[in-house]
Amino acid sequence: MTMHEHDVVVVGAGGAGLRAAIAADEEGADVAMVTKLHPVRSHTGAAEGGINAALRDGDDWELHAYDTMKGSDYLGDAPAIETLAQDAPEEVIQLEHWGMPFSREDDGRVSQRPFGGLSFPRTTYAGAETGHHLLHTMYEQVVKRGITVYDEFYVSELAVTDHDEPEDRECHGCVAYDIKSGEVVGFRAKNGVILATGGDGQVFNHTTNAVANTGDGPAMAYRAGVPVEDMEFVQFHPTTLPSTGVLISEGVRGEGGILYNGEGERFMFEHGYANNAGELASRDVVSRAELTEVNEGRGVNDEYVYLDMRHLGEERIYDRLENIIHLAEDFEGVNPTEEPMPVKPGQHYHMGGIETSEHGETCVSGLYAAGECACASVHGSNRLGGNALPELIVFGARAGHHAAGRDLGEAEVPIGPSAESEPEESLDTPVEPGALDSTDGDVAADGALVEPTEVVEHAVDYERTRIEEMLEGDGTNHAEIREDLQKAMTENVNVFREKEGLKKALEIIRECRERYQDVAVSDPSRTFNTDLIHTIETRNLIDIAETITLGALARDEFRGAHWRREHQERKDEDWLKHTMISWNDGAPKLYYKPVVLEGENKEYEPKVRSY
Ligand code: FUM
Repeated sequence: MTMHEHDVVVVGAGGAGLRAAIAADEEGADVAMVTKLHPVRSHTGAAEGGINAALRDGDDWELHAYDTMKGSDYLGDAPAIETLAQDAPEEVIQLEHWGMPFSREDDGRVSQRPFGGLSFPRTTYAGAETGHHLLHTMYEQVVKRGITVYDEFYVSELAVTDHDEPEDRECHGCVAYDIKSGEVVGFRAKNGVILATGGDGQVFNHTTNAVANTGDGPAMAYRAGVPVEDMEFVQFHPTTLPSTGVLISEGVRGEGGILYNGEGERFMFEHGYANNAGELASRDVVSRAELTEVNEGRGVNDEYVYLDMRHLGEERIYDRLENIIHLAEDFEGVNPTEEPMPVKPGQHYHMGGIETSEHGETCVSGLYAAGECACASVHGSNRLGGNALPELIVFGARAGHHAAGRDLGEAEVPIGPSAESEPEESLDTPVEPGALDSTDGDVAADGALVEPTEVVEHAVDYERTRIEEMLEGDGTNHAEIREDLQKAMTENVNVFREKEGLKKALEIIRECRERYQDVAVSDPSRTFNTDLIHTIETRNLIDIAETITLGALARDEFRGAHWRREHQERKDEDWLKHTMISWNDGAPKLYYKPVVLEGENKEYEPKVRSY
């Protein structure tokens, strides 16, 4: 059995993973990155608009924190939000020193532009391909530092002890399928495993996310007993190309782009959706406005609206948004310097994820998470545009430093089932929770007595057997299951949600779970077997879809990105709490923990949120 051993093992090599690895290396740890994609192919590369950081006179971290808390619709935890706002400037300056080619003003300062929901133009950017440059800048550091990168290794399970209580469990490593050789190998992590696996947009069939964004980290952590948090909060970006879901950056609206309905009205103002901020209201507001226009017959082709940037002029467009011209031309056949672009909302980002403290810790010792796969609770029920990239670098760095041994002090964001404030809810669900043998990868008995390496070996053995069975079996192809799952989620768990639709989605998800018990891989190849990888990913999508839908069904209020037809108000008395779902006994368990509104200098008071 091949067993690699490092101090810190980072799973995933996008923005959060790269920053975590660099941070662990800065502490002197022997760090390795294990990733299914080469680092510069990670989905962070698709991030267009920018990185929020309070850098200028007239702006400060407290304003950034306030905007973020308001954007979250008061479901973010103040210590995490304030950490983001405080650390972002230093991290951006660090990127600049590493050579990130930020767009600049004539006087040489890094440019900043307005973004939705911001009270100050604080979004730094590199054209409309900020994520691409972020990845390359940090990958250079990884190469320079000689950090080991195992790319084309698909991590499919964690090696965690099987103590009864998740808070007693320990993560000693993970298991990966070597895509090039077909071998199932072990990674022993002496200090910790950091999950940085990115998003899970493939739960939906219209998304800005890459095919690789399948929620691997949250699903693995969830099966290992770590709670996932606020999973019902999914962001739908208002400007995606209708035929592919390709992102058209909020930077277009930040630079002055205008949304029109099919009747030529500037509907954000003319129909009163956001009388102050207009197109630059927060994303949940703009997405609902667009779909309302379409549903009320004022859309174009009953599907989309227009985003127009022609008036910005070619010089400005080429200077700041050139990438948008190429995306619109290549993926929609539209030249946006000559005609408006068709746009509609598409899944873009998941606010929910693996519950972590602001140091990236989970309740399982030795297991960390950072970036989109995690929920340190910065974004609450709605993320502001430009807050994902600072999240990656701020919390990636913190997780890396902490895993490598730096003392970051006591975390203020509570984690683990003992942070529970209310007992398990009984859900009015149409079917019994489906049981998947998802904890079988854990060690046999009394994990405390098993050597860490044995924990990893046991997990490797289990996973190897599971993969062999899928390769040799003769059963359902995962693609049929995935298609039905995505359709159910897109139809029922989208921008507008209602009880019957959510119940229907849950029923289909659980049928998918049952069908998955009989899944088999059609391609028998032992190397570069993408059918096998996608089959394993589909199990993760099922877990993610179920937690999103369970959380959405239970939360009978309208908050941020979670709109419920039957519940048109934010209900602070009942719902200033995080939805927590854990998988401990072969079924999802739902509980809640309070939102932390107490910040460093003040308590954030929930207010009516308008733009
Ligand atoms: O619209 C965008 O450029 C995306 C930015 C973000 O999601 O933060």
